Amino acid sequence: MPITFRALVEDDRAAVETLFQSELSSHAPERLEGFAAFDGWVMVGAVTSAALPEAVPPAQWGSVSKLVSDDAVFVKSLVVIPSARGEGVGTALVGAVVEAHPGVQVAACAWVRGGRAPAGSANTANGLRPVVTIPGFWRADSVVEQYSCPEDGNPCGCAARVYIRSV
Ligand SMILES: CC(C)(COP(=O)(O)OP(=O)(O)OC[C@H]1O[C@@H](n2cnc3c(N)ncnc32)[C@H](O)[C@@H]1OP(=O)(O)O)[C@@H](O)C(=O)NCCC(=O)NCCS
Repeated sequence: MPITFRALVEDDRAAVETLFQSELSSHAPERLEGFAAFDGWVMVGAVTSAALPEAVPPAQWGSVSKLVSDDAVFVKSLVVIPSARGEGVGTALVGAVVEAHPGVQVAACAWVRGGRAPAGSANTANGLRPVVTIPGFWRADSVVEQYSCPEDGNPCGCAARVYIRSV
């Protein structure tokens, strides 16, 4: 069965929560905005997005804040279930966010593990370019928001690779 894609709606909350908990140890955002991929009725992937200042406080960007516009859209969390990976689902989900925001800068922070960013190619395939890698990007946020990362637990010490698609 072909994978289908559609914008997230509030009824998707439980499925997104399960997906994010199992693969990212994080929660679905309060305002569910983004896209999901389905194999039949089963949600096999999701991406959430938000206006940039809401998604990442300007202070967290450090020197990168000069590169990101105030009206940028931010790719927040991207997850595909293990059995559906490597088939372009992650790339299509990021692509859906880009297409939904024509003429707007798109930014993303990919989690870096063992020197690799698993979401890196989903970003670059959609025209987002890596600009910098920031160590310990989620440390303070993970303490405030009380989430654990699968690598370190809490606090999260992982680096983030920042990607930007300019208009
Ligand atoms: C990161 C993640 C979302 C990627 O999802 P995905 O659906 O596997 O992504 P894609 O299939 O689009 O791309 C993954 C790889 O498959 C390749 N690929 C894409 N389409 C393909 C196809 N049709 N046939 C073969 N390979 C393909 C891509 O080039 C990419 O290769 P690379 O990683 O070696 O560069 C997924 O691995 C995941 O959920 N990981 C755990 C959570 C996570 O780390 N999220 C990112 C947080 S920032």
